[in-house]
Amino acid sequence: DRNFSREIWKFPTPEMEKIYLYKKLLTKEHSFNCTNLKVFRNELQDGMGAYFKKYFIIDQQNTPANHTFKFGNRKNSPKLQISEDIHKLLPKNSTSETIPRCSVVGNSGSILNTKCGKDIDKADFVFRCNAAPIRLFATDAGYKSNLTTFNPSILSKRYKRISNAKSLSRFVMDMKRYHGYLWTPCYTISGLQKCIKILKVYNLTENTFVMGHPGHFPKVQAFWNSRGFTGRLSSGFYLVNVALTRCSELHLYGFWPFPKEVDKHIKEVPYHYFENMKFTTGRHDMNFEFSVLLQLHLHGVLKLHAGECD
Ligand code: CTP
Repeated sequence: DRNFSREIWKFPTPEMEKIYLYKKLLTKEHSFNCTNLKVFRNELQDGMGAYFKKYFIIDQQNTPANHTFKFGNRKNSPKLQISEDIHKLLPKNSTSETIPRCSVVGNSGSILNTKCGKDIDKADFVFRCNAAPIRLFATDAGYKSNLTTFNPSILSKRYKRISNAKSLSRFVMDMKRYHGYLWTPCYTISGLQKCIKILKVYNLTENTFVMGHPGHFPKVQAFWNSRGFTGRLSSGFYLVNVALTRCSELHLYGFWPFPKEVDKHIKEVPYHYFENMKFTTGRHDMNFEFSVLLQLHLHGVLKLHAGECD
């Protein structure tokens, strides 16, 4: 004698109702749809042209020695030349091979207590964002890291802008925790100068440091701007686009740009899984990004994991 209509939740706010419905949609049965993946990939390829696969990082093939990067369209916009010495330190070329299974790990606290670590590490390639600490969170967030991004803001926050030998070597030591590529955007003249400084020291270590090509991010940004998007793309959303260019099966974890979860109970969700930080989506429009990810999930283009892994 269950009284269904009396059991229906009265949501305290429309935002919470939205969060509840999002979670409900994500816990429904999901299957990958390679036709939809192909359709989406073709659109992205049309929008990005040559940048679709070739220009994610600066390498010897896409950037000849003595090439000059210009930052801006004005006559006197700042320029920086890649000297022959620097050119020799660049990776020979970037692989554009198809990867069977990939994970992209976002930094939301929603990943805590999910026990998704094993599932994440099952992937052939794991992308991580902003040098998120891994060792202590392996059960929920996995251990494998084939590519991790870090923002220039991390350099200022944690490493005094790598302005002296001590902060530079501390940065290099910390980054050795990541097994694969370390990627940073080199989109401004000062950013590229900093990237070159790091590249020189990294050449002396066993890690691989790669520089984000200044032309690549703007292409992905322009693709979404032409679809009504106005914010600056977040690192996580950008990586999802990169992964969609080459991964056959893409799994996302830790993408939950909301301060709460509404399931049987309402639960607070920390902004990051590894630190107690006030909830902020900064200059990003993560509501738009999340609704795109959700739609791609519903069309089987990728799988957005929410809640515990089996
Ligand atoms: N993210 C999310 N929900 C959160 C926190 C992060 O979906 N509560 C995703 C976003 O796509 C974000 C990525 O995980 O870009 C990495 O998180 P974070 O390091 O917090 O990114 P930001 O600080 O926003 O930095 P960026 O400007 O590099 O995106």
